[in-house]
Amino acid sequence: MYRHGTVFKLPPSPIQQIDLPILRERDVELWIKRDDLLHPTLIGNKYRKSLVYFRQAIVSQQAVVTFGGAYSNHLLAVALMGQSLGLRTVGCVRGEIDVPNAPILERCRDAGMHLISISRQAYYPEQAQMSEWLQAQLAPFVPYLVIPEGGTSAACLPDVAQLVTELDQQLLHYDVIACSVGTGGTVAGILTGLHQQQSDARVLGLCAAKGYQGLPAQGLAALPSDEQQRQQLLSRLCIVDVAERGFGRISPELRHAGLELQAQLNIPLDYVYTAKSLLYLFSEIKQTNLFAEKRLVFIHTGGYQTAALADKFSVE
Ligand SMILES: Cc1ncc(COP(=O)(O)O)c(C=O)c1O
Repeated sequence: MYRHGTVFKLPPSPIQQIDLPILRERDVELWIKRDDLLHPTLIGNKYRKSLVYFRQAIVSQQAVVTFGGAYSNHLLAVALMGQSLGLRTVGCVRGEIDVPNAPILERCRDAGMHLISISRQAYYPEQAQMSEWLQAQLAPFVPYLVIPEGGTSAACLPDVAQLVTELDQQLLHYDVIACSVGTGGTVAGILTGLHQQQSDARVLGLCAAKGYQGLPAQGLAALPSDEQQRQQLLSRLCIVDVAERGFGRISPELRHAGLELQAQLNIPLDYVYTAKSLLYLFSEIKQTNLFAEKRLVFIHTGGYQTAALADKFSVE
């Protein structure tokens, strides 16, 4: 078990400049902020997003209950965080839990997380998540603290915003921050941080789920309720869909391209989020002038679904 102080205060994640011929040709300066190196097991944005909840759970010695699908890095991060802090964890999973090719669920079990399957129909909306049936399943874990899906809520924004404070100490100036999007909490935290630092940088959200053109509902709900403030934050954000075959799915071509990119960068990528995001960025860099003469920072949000697990994914 880690000493709590160690897990709650980590040094800033490193940042590295990428030097590839295509970047030189297109006059783009690309930096990657390596949140995947924040901690050996509690990697990436999940670490930043779950701090606030675990601080509270430690004080009140509560079990931790959370929600996610079979490809949810969040579920595994919560399981590992709970394991390292000696807290019981419960994962309420959208859909079946006894399915083949679900390495995340296997690793959650290994980390001691109790898994409960919730049918896809009953999983949403929020009220259904805390139905009488589910409360009965959770009764043995009382008292427990509920972390929303993806860890996204207003409570996690200050710890995520800290990422911008770190970045400002590492780079004098940057034009665009690009970051993978699931529930939108990380991007919401980045917007908050940029606003606090009075930066004029813009944010490109690379959404791993199909069909999104704006911030997903959970991310929106985490923002301040004041309409003017929300609009101010959102005005610097652009969201694009990088889902390709859909959330948690990859085509053989994309898998191959992801492996190639990973080898070129010598940085492990997550197939659900960061590989798709970076492949999109590089294709935009190749095909457009959008990032010419710009300093672009990609936040490597970590993820456990790296090449070692890629064979286990549903490849169409
Ligand atoms: C590796 C990785 N990157 C990005 C995200 C997206 O984060 P968010 O849900 O805050 O949008 C997630 C999780 O959802 C993730 O696991």
